[in-house]
Amino acid sequence: MATTTFRFSGGSRGDWQIVRTTVLCGDGLAAAPYLSVDADAAAPGDALWSLRGFVSNTRYATRVETTELRLVQQGLGRPQARQAALIPIRKTAAWWDLPQDERRAIFEETSHHTRIGMDYLPAIARRLYHSRDLGEQFDFLTWFEYAPEHGAAFDELLARLRATQEWTYVDREIDIRLALAGGA
Ligand code: HEM
Repeated sequence: MATTTFRFSGGSRGDWQIVRTTVLCGDGLAAAPYLSVDADAAAPGDALWSLRGFVSNTRYATRVETTELRLVQQGLGRPQARQAALIPIRKTAAWWDLPQDERRAIFEETSHHTRIGMDYLPAIARRLYHSRDLGEQFDFLTWFEYAPEHGAAFDELLARLRATQEWTYVDREIDIRLALAGGA
């Protein structure tokens, strides 16, 4: 099966300007002024760092959750969504050692990841990229797009998720905030 691999590169050009980078835990990445996102591409020559991920099947969402999400969520690329966040995340060996049912229980029954996230739809559009199976330095590349007036709500969402039990299994996380380059 052909799977498109997306490459996120920090460098001297790209559609997104990097406006702020916060290292929550673990090692950071080199400071770069722009982010480019390309499908199936080689790393640009000017890349200071480059991260790859692919869209995969769901692991935890139930039928009911998937149906609810599809009813409310909006897609990427909305004209008003001129701000974005790329948040690469790595989870600990202890997380990956857990069986699937225990990971699901921590993710949703204890941490309410989806239920919390639903509070911020449709303002926040999201896409999850998987990296772990590519042998990358992060397990996930998470991507979010929103209109500038929803930036504060996005920060609140992050605070709620980072306070959950799920996040005790996160050992590397970098919050990279972006604005459409050339946008008003
Ligand atoms: C905007 C609201 C959000 C919603 C509705 C949402 C929903 C979901 C759902 C349903 C999944 C499970 C996908 C599956 O079944 O495989 C998921 C996974 C994930 N989400 Fe979110 N999410 C939101 C925000 C966030 C934020 C802000 C972050 C990061 C800071 C994040 C990080 C992740 C990660 C890392 C995973 C993969 C977890 C794993 O497989 O261990 N999510 N999200």
